[in-house]
Amino acid sequence: MSPPVILTQDELKKIAAYKAVEFVESGMVLGLGTGSTAKHAVDRIGDLLRQGKLTNIVGIPTSKKTEEQALSLGIPLSDLDSHPAIDLAIDGADEVDPHLNLVKGRGGSLLREKMVEGACKKFVCIVDESKLVKHLGGSGLALPVEVVPFCWKFTAIKLQNLFERSGCVAKLRNDCEGKPFVTDNGNYVVDLYLKKDLGDLQIASDATLRIAGVVENGMFLDMATTVIVAVLVLDYFFGI
Ligand code: 5RP
Repeated sequence: MSPPVILTQDELKKIAAYKAVEFVESGMVLGLGTGSTAKHAVDRIGDLLRQGKLTNIVGIPTSKKTEEQALSLGIPLSDLDSHPAIDLAIDGADEVDPHLNLVKGRGGSLLREKMVEGACKKFVCIVDESKLVKHLGGSGLALPVEVVPFCWKFTAIKLQNLFERSGCVAKLRNDCEGKPFVTDNGNYVVDLYLKKDLGDLQIASDATLRIAGVVENGMFLDMATTVIVAVLVLDYFFGI
């Protein structure tokens, strides 16, 4: 009996990422996502360019980190000002609900991701199965909101009160040195922890954006056109 092949979470992420890159064609303007899953897709695009299997690609990075990675791989880059219409974006997510709504931004890049992915014809989201939830906020982990640093506590309290019925607790995100985490746009992130679902997601999202100190939230509603989920299937064979 041969032992089952156990893949790590990172290997699953890589499988989803490589599958998404099969959608890429020469000549495309590409939104390049951020995070450990999207990193595999960017690596793959770099490999295919180097091998001459893809040509004439323009990448629009969703973070400074992805910009650095893409530059190191020789991927030609541009921005939304020069390329306001993107053919295809590939990016990971923190949560995916059954309607393909997403939570993004636990990596802190939600604003640029929302701008880039909102400007693309096709948004392929790549996840491993651990990201699937029944409702957004359902993993018990953070729903990120980017806020201006000015009086961030005031904004955090407004957010917490807004979702009081969902048992919301709002916390400022810190970096590894215990200082406030600062986004690529010079803002802070308030993470919302929810005990219950948010009800109508569009109403919830719109309500956050009406709070003056909020820049953007991590709910990506009705944006993903395809979600690729890498699933681990254990195939045990018991021989006699
Ligand atoms: C960054 C994001 C990432 O896509 C999200 O956090 C998923 O990351 P990973 O692929 O590392 O699990 O939204 O802002």
